[in-house]
Amino acid sequence: MCGIVGYVGRQAAAPLLLQGLARLEYRGYDSAGVALLDGSGFCVYKEAGRLSVLAARMNGGEGLPQTVGIGHTRWATHGAPTARNAHPHLSDNGHWAVVHNGIIENEAVLRRTLREAGVVLRSDTDSELIAQLLQREDDGDVPSTLRRVTAQLEGSFALGVLYTAQPERVYAVRCQSPLVIGVADEGVFLASDIPAVLPYTQRCVMLQDGDVACLTAEGYTVYGADGEPLQRPLQETAWEAEQAERGAYAHFMLKEIHEQPEAVAATLLPHLQEGRVTPEVLPLTAAQAVALKRVVLVGCGSAYHAGMVGAQVMERLARVPCVAEVASEYRYRQPVTDGDTLVVCISQSGETADTLAALREAKRLGARVMAVANVEGSTLAAESEAVLLTRAGPEIAVATTKAYAAQLAALYLLAVRLGVMRGTVTPAEEQRLTAELRRLPSLIRGLLKTAPQMHALAKRLPPLTDAYFIGRGIDHAAALEASLKLKEISYIHSEAYAAGELKHGTISLMESGTFVAALACDKALLTKTLANVREVRARGAWVLLLTAETVEEAADEVLTIPAAEPLFQASLSIVPLQLLGYYTALERGCDIDHPRNLAKSVTVE
Ligand code: F6R
Repeated sequence: MCGIVGYVGRQAAAPLLLQGLARLEYRGYDSAGVALLDGSGFCVYKEAGRLSVLAARMNGGEGLPQTVGIGHTRWATHGAPTARNAHPHLSDNGHWAVVHNGIIENEAVLRRTLREAGVVLRSDTDSELIAQLLQREDDGDVPSTLRRVTAQLEGSFALGVLYTAQPERVYAVRCQSPLVIGVADEGVFLASDIPAVLPYTQRCVMLQDGDVACLTAEGYTVYGADGEPLQRPLQETAWEAEQAERGAYAHFMLKEIHEQPEAVAATLLPHLQEGRVTPEVLPLTAAQAVALKRVVLVGCGSAYHAGMVGAQVMERLARVPCVAEVASEYRYRQPVTDGDTLVVCISQSGETADTLAALREAKRLGARVMAVANVEGSTLAAESEAVLLTRAGPEIAVATTKAYAAQLAALYLLAVRLGVMRGTVTPAEEQRLTAELRRLPSLIRGLLKTAPQMHALAKRLPPLTDAYFIGRGIDHAAALEASLKLKEISYIHSEAYAAGELKHGTISLMESGTFVAALACDKALLTKTLANVREVRARGAWVLLLTAETVEEAADEVLTIPAAEPLFQASLSIVPLQLLGYYTALERGCDIDHPRNLAKSVTVE
């Protein structure tokens, strides 16, 4: 999705804005632009395509002395990805410049009103309308002008705004789309997420919905919905700049796959003490835990897949009905929900629009709600009753790996704790399970050594058009994630099936050379899945089998996964399959960290 940066300080803004935009590239974009401001007005640069085109046009910012500016990477929604539609957009009188994330849902009405008033629009975007509205509502008092304009906007948005009459200020508005202020020695930064400001500062303010902020070289003021200044405290983020650097790795995705042992350890270890899961992971009293009627784990994409694993683990350990739900479906389904329902919203970014909508719906219905989130201070974290943080650090590659691994770890903690509270996990069992959890980081580290094997396999595989991932139970949940990893970065059509479901239709697609990855890490289900492997091989499929047992000649290639607690096996089987997805995409020459059409943080429905 789009990215916003802003800067006001003592240094030249242009190079800082370009660097900030580069750090937001991972969010996905198709054009970019920068507006610089000083006493003589705006200098605006906009280009379609990669940021490098814009940077070249601006000569990397060399010779541009302005110390105030805003920048934007655009992911087209209204209008083609052209320089004309790129942000910043100026008002007709040239007094206002706006960068915008999100979607203005009533843009058709606003466009008609402005046209009828004689305003000539220069782009196809909903964003330009905001600049024109600012001109119409301008009373010289910027926070109140911004309030009157945003009151006319429907939808979710974050804005960065410059005004020629106040050339030493950057304004920001947040409404359901994230914005961060970073306070550094060299000035004050604005960004749509934390990694953009990390090279300059770890001192951040997460703006909340309805906030209007004014940034100057000296600091910032935040105004609440009533127009009065309010306190938004500076927080010191634990994330460090080098965590958001690619280092020696060819891609962020490969780096993040290799960071999984640390991500899982950092998520688990603060909550494992003397063979127990610490109580604060779950915001329920003993009575509430016992009275619980159901648990719903909600998320999108990989977070939903983590929820599918978590639901199975939780139901088995806590003996309470648990289901995973796609967040975009949850809110429209009129789910049976009450105070004895726990809804766990899972999200790396904590800003995914559908997950936030599900959270709000669950709250409206009276459920207990908690978040499993990777970004402290994110909207999901702020709006939930309680947060269990995944401590994966900043995740830059669009395709999630370490955040998914950390989500699994967090859900295991919740499952064990809920089982203990409900009396379905005995103290001895808790001891054993927590010992198994402690083993996970080193087991994952061991599986990273399959990288050469997975690379060789990716090279050896015939040119694939389709792939199938099958498994039963938790293996099926892991198969869904493995399939998504391959599909989203290599553009190979891929599907995941419950292994027993295959013969109810999809087996008709099996023919000579069809690629099937079979996950059979749960010993109890091994013979059943092996039967399914035989079925597809009999029809010519080429099978990669992942198993924790020794099985001879059961498949074309067998990958032995170390035996661990079966409930936690998804954390292991996914690792070589992430690597397979990565190396397959590499062999196909795909843009691994920026897969086409995808965005890291999906802040629109
Ligand atoms: C896939 C992927 C996405 C995200 C999904 C939810 O690799 O990364 O499917 O998992 O967009 O994002 P978050 O976790 O930020 O809510």
